[in-house]
This record gives sequence, C-alpha cells and structure tokens, in this order.
Amino acid sequence: MSAESLSREVAALYDNNSANIIAMLQEIQSRNKNRYLPRPELEALAACLEIPVSKVYRIATFFKAFNLEPKGEHMVSLCVGTACHVRGAAKILTALEGELGIVDGGTTSDLKFSIETVNCVGACALGPVAVIDEEYFGELEGDKLPEILNRFR
Ligand code: FES
Repeated sequence: MSAESLSREVAALYDNNSANIIAMLQEIQSRNKNRYLPRPELEALAACLEIPVSKVYRIATFFKAFNLEPKGEHMVSLCVGTACHVRGAAKILTALEGELGIVDGGTTSDLKFSIETVNCVGACALGPVAVIDEEYFGELEGDKLPEILNRFR
C-alpha cells in the first residue's frame, strides 16, 4: 500500500479529524513492517488533515512511542532492571551487542533486529530476561544468544 493510500485510509477511519492525530500516527506506525513513521506518511497525513507537515512532525517527535527511523523486524528487549542486573544483565547486553554488531537502541543494517533495554518485564525470578517480539527468554547466558537469535534470522 502506498504511503498516500495508507494515510488516507487511516485518516478516514477517524473522519479526517485532526483531534485524533495521535491515534492515527499510532495506527500508521503499527501497520508499518518496521514500526516507524516514514516521511511520506507524515506528509500524506498532513495533506489529508489539511494541517502543516510541521505540526505532524512536532507531535511525532514529542512522543517517545513514535519512531522516525525504521526498527528491526524483531525487537530484542533486554531487561536491565534490578533483579536482572544483579544476575548479570550487563554481560548479556555486551554479548548481545557483539552478536548483532549494534549497540543498545540500534538496528542492524539488514533491519532484522533492534535492541532496547527495559526496566522490568515482570519475570524477575527468571533473570536475566530478554523478550524478543512477544517471546520470553529467561536465565540467559551469553553463549545461548546465537542459538536464540538464529530462531529469528
Ligand atoms: S527486573 Fe528483569 S524481569 Fe524484573
């Protein structure tokens, strides 16, 4: 679907009412394979809502939930909360960064993986824990990472 038709479709879902712009941006981002808001989408949305592109950008950059750069197809969320930290999350992060060749917050050049650190995923007893997409991996050790990541490659 082209940017223009996706934005038009999403805007129409909300009666082209710019009061709903945050929900529209969420919808557009969630439908994007790489979970971000490409520039053509923002321009097309502004045109549909008859508002300046700068206003759409202001909103898209204000909220941390919106991404202006493409994210990896698979998000690796590594917990660095207290329970995971005391069980060696920092070492896992180093191993993960080495395995993927990117740092925390980064995305691989093939757009397969992104890494983010998070502060508790509610599975403290299993620390250190990573969540890849929706799947939990507990009691992580650095040497288990290649096998785990290969499942998503
Ligand atoms: S601190 Fe890591 S899951 Fe709770």
